[in-house]
Amino acid sequence: MNFSTISVYRVLIALADALMVANAGDPNILSDFILPQDSYLADANFFTFTGMRSLMNAPARHHLSSIKPPHTHPRSAELLFMVQGSLEVGLVDTTDELYSQTLQTGDMFVFPKGLVHYQYNTDAKNMVVAISAFRSANASNVSVLSTLFTTGIMLLAMLCWPSPSRHI
Ligand SMILES: *[C@@H]1O[C@H](CO)[C@@H](O)[C@H](O)[C@H]1NC(C)=O
Ligand SMILES: *[C@@H]1O[C@H](CO)[C@@H](O)[C@H](O)[C@H]1NC(C)=O
Repeated sequence: MNFSTISVYRVLIALADALMVANAGDPNILSDFILPQDSYLADANFFTFTGMRSLMNAPARHHLSSIKPPHTHPRSAELLFMVQGSLEVGLVDTTDELYSQTLQTGDMFVFPKGLVHYQYNTDAKNMVVAISAFRSANASNVSVLSTLFTTGIMLLAMLCWPSPSRHI
């Protein structure tokens, strides 16, 4: 093999790599979330996994209360794992259905990609420790409050309320 043949192979291999990278992208989802085929109607339990509660018996020791107000991650679903404490969580789908849940230590909850959600520690005496995992290196946060108030579009939203769209 001479030098130029090796170069051609290198280019071909690089192209093949590039094609594989292009094919590895997420397909765009066409629904808020996907229910199993034999499914009941979704409720908050659909997003919750409680199977690890019994493995997690660490007592809560710290004192803190916190709230993560309604926000979305436009580029990724979020998987939340409760390491310690109890947390109120909720998400709203695109039909304005609210799914809320009280999570305990060891629980997991999934917030589907792009849907508005919140996390709230109602017990001021006990600190919550939770780990969030995202499928995107930059899931991004969009705060519903700052979207509405810092841009001033809250006024438009109020003009249109309660109808989602109004022609003016
Ligand atoms: C992540 O996304 C935000 C916009 O949502 C952008 O401002 C920021 O630069 C991005 N960070 C990286 C490392 O790409
Ligand atoms: C949300 O924003 C904070 C900083 O404002 C950043 O540290 C964090 O990584 C962001 N989360 C996601 C999922 O992008």
